[in-house]
Amino acid sequence: MAKLTILEFPDPRLRTRAKPVERVDADLRRLIDDMFETMYAAPGIGLAASQVDVHLRFMVIDVSETKDQQLDFINPEIVAHEGVQTCQEGCLSIPGIYADVKRHERIAVRALDRDGNPFEIQADGLLAVCIQHEMDHLDGKVFVDYLSPLKREQVRKKLDKQRRAAAA
Ligand code: NI
Repeated sequence: MAKLTILEFPDPRLRTRAKPVERVDADLRRLIDDMFETMYAAPGIGLAASQVDVHLRFMVIDVSETKDQQLDFINPEIVAHEGVQTCQEGCLSIPGIYADVKRHERIAVRALDRDGNPFEIQADGLLAVCIQHEMDHLDGKVFVDYLSPLKREQVRKKLDKQRRAAAA
């Protein structure tokens, strides 16, 4: 297993629209394992392939307290949704920044698992938020895109400041 480098906003590579996975094989499973390791180490609750500069449609999630409920989604699709919820979100690609984002409250998602088998799950609460957040990454979107241009500019400045402080 290996820890991967996470791209950070405003890296233009985060804007890439990921392509569907065509083959679920051992290479993909290795990458999924590496992404879990990277996500747990960060630490985070979700990571999309786009964030580690792999532009294919898959992502890993574990929202459990005990960090032992790994969910992986390959070629995920939201097939139904209802309600609205607002939750404070953060992102491993935008460290130290948190903001409220409006999402579907409940969703049904269809995807392939790491063995290439199709499955469907219903999700609400934090898991539903996390799935929608990671799926945005696969479309080249990040959560600060939902903020006003002024707020987004403040985020950019704050990140610059953090990076300068870290480099000093
Ligand atoms: Ni994110």
